[in-house]
Formats: sequence, structure tokens, C-alpha cells
Amino acid sequence: EKGGHSSFMVKEILEQPAAINDTLLGRTDSTGALVLDEMRIDPARLAAVDKIVFVACGTAFYSGLTAKYAIERWTRLPCSVELAHEFRYCDPVVDEKTLVVSISQSGETMDTLMAVKHARELGALTISICNTHGATIPRESDAVLYTHAGPEIAVASTKAFTAQITACYVLGLYLAQLRGGTHAEQAQQVMRELHEVPAKVEDLLGRMDRVREIARFMADTRSVLFLGRHVGYPIALEGALKLKEIAYIHAEGFAAGELKHGPIALIEPGQPVFIVVPSPTTPYSLHDKVVSNIQEIRARGARTLVIAEEGDEAVVPFADEVISVPATSPLLAPLLTIVPLQVFAAELAAAKGLDVDQPRNLAKSVTVE
Ligand code: F6R
Repeated sequence: EKGGHSSFMVKEILEQPAAINDTLLGRTDSTGALVLDEMRIDPARLAAVDKIVFVACGTAFYSGLTAKYAIERWTRLPCSVELAHEFRYCDPVVDEKTLVVSISQSGETMDTLMAVKHARELGALTISICNTHGATIPRESDAVLYTHAGPEIAVASTKAFTAQITACYVLGLYLAQLRGGTHAEQAQQVMRELHEVPAKVEDLLGRMDRVREIARFMADTRSVLFLGRHVGYPIALEGALKLKEIAYIHAEGFAAGELKHGPIALIEPGQPVFIVVPSPTTPYSLHDKVVSNIQEIRARGARTLVIAEEGDEAVVPFADEVISVPATSPLLAPLLTIVPLQVFAAELAAAKGLDVDQPRNLAKSVTVE
């Protein structure tokens, strides 16, 4: 059952190394090339797509937002990410050359299902990324790429999220391979790096004591802000969602670059802010720009809880707490940076005496529109 853990959510957070690993398993041949024969899609049809649209809700939507950065970079195909319930009613620009990728843990979310049906009516090629074998959304799609996270019991999604990002990456790398040339070479290199991620997540999970301690001290907190940039931005959004849904704390995620366009007005002494710092190797000096943001909010009294790559000394002078994550290439970092935010939300909810697995007003699978 819960395997000795206090909740299914805690157990599922700890299962993420396996969820990521199992989602990578069997998707490369002995030469390191990606093989997705399981999808039974004519590779020529896939190679002909000229854009990708992700449709999903909630946490699955944030996995799509995360994947967009990587897939555009690897394939150079334009990629958009739409909330499924908005997509269907905005007369989307979709045709036979559009690949519509739905992401759903349950495979039963009505909003996502309706978006997929609409996309098919418009002639799009539809692929479902799903964690539940034989669910409705994969059955209604042209093809399915399963995440192998295992059953997710807790209402708040954790291991399905990291498995969804992994599956999106596998699909993106496969598309890159189909496009050939330098795209293909890069795909094999990234796949090798992806295979190293589960061990890094395991290592990170082993040193979450301080995060749990911070969470327990914050049981009376009324509001927490989350800032991120580049792939850290969707992670900030997902970190905020976790806290809202299980700890009932007002939480909001922002793109760090938006700070000066409004949200910085919220900063007052004592306001806790998590900052997901890009790896120092991220292009365009994005790391340094986020470090400046930390400095700005700290000067206004914010309590800065900084998630940064191991060995990143630049954040230290402006951080009330540094939460270090193992180094990886910038686009793969979300598989690590989300972990402390999941642990934080679960521990804080438990400290408030709440039912971590069954938050009020929420259902695991939303089968109504
Ligand atoms: C958040 C959460 C929800 C789901 C959303 C989509 O922790 O669980 O936001 O992610 O309802 O559900 P699926 O992935 O089943 O379509």
C-alpha cells in the first residue's frame, strides 16, 4: 500500500527515479537511436508535421509548457501549449500538418478528450501521452506514448508530472531524429544525459531534510510566491499549484522577468519567495538575470528560498536558504528542480494536519466539462 510512508503522495514523490527511468526504458536500440514503433504512426507523416500543439489541463499543462522549451530547441518546429478547455473554443489554427499532443495522467479528463476530438475533426495527427492503459483519450487518438509512472493514487500529481516531461522529451527527440542531420546527433547525446537523470533525482531525494524542516516552520504562512525563468517558469507555476491544492495556501507563480512589470509590488518584509534559478550554463546570461531578481526582492525584505544548481555560489549572498540540486544540462533541470517544491507542499500540508492525498473539493480524474 503506502509502503510505510505517511501518504501516497510522499510515496509517489519517492518513486520518481523509477517513473522517469521506466518511461525511458525500451525506447532506444543498441546504437542509441530512438525507436517508437509502438506508436504505429507512419514516420513519413510525422516527419511532415510543421507545428506541434500540446493540449492538457493542470499539472499536465505545466509538463507541456516545460517541454516546449526543449522541443522547439531540438526540432526547430513551432510548438504551442494550450489549456484543453480553451483550445476547443478558440477556433484553433490546426490542419493535417499539425501534430496535436494531448497529455493526461488519467486519460479520462473530459476537457482534454474534447480537445483531442476537435483536433481530429480538423484533420490533425493526434498523439496521447497517458499514464493509464486503454483509457479513453488514447483510444480516441491516432497513437499513444505511455508514461510508465505506475498508478498514481494521490490527487496531487507528482510522479506522473516528471514522467510526462520525460515522455514529451522522448517524443521531441524522436522528431528531431526524423528530421536528421545535426538534429539527430543531438538527440542521441540528450538521450544519454536523460538516462543519467534518475540517479540524480534519487540523490536529491536523499537530502530533502532541510526542505521538510523549512516547510514545518511555515505551517502558518498565508502566501508563498514562486519565481522562475526559462524552464524554471513552468516549474514555478507547478510548485504554486501543488501548494494551493494540498496546503490551501495562496500561492502564485511568476516568470521572473515579469517581476518589474507588476508582481514586485507584492514584496513586503517577510514574504516567502521560492526562486527556481536557471543553471549557470543556460544561454543569454539568464542565470545572472535571475540572481539580480533575487537581489531586488531581498532588498525589499522578501525571504528568499533559492533552488539552484550545486556549486552555484552566485546565489549565496542573497539567499535565506539555498536548496541545491545536482547539475544537469539546462533543459533537463526541471526533472530535478520540481522535487523540492513537491516535498515542500506535502510536508507543509501534513504539518497543517490536512489530508495530503485527498484535498478538499478535488477529484483525481475530472470527467465532466
Ligand atoms: C494537479 C492535478 C490536476 C491534473 C489535471 C489533469 O496535481 O492533479 O491539475 O493534473 O486535472 O489531469 P489528467 O492528467 O488526468 O488529465
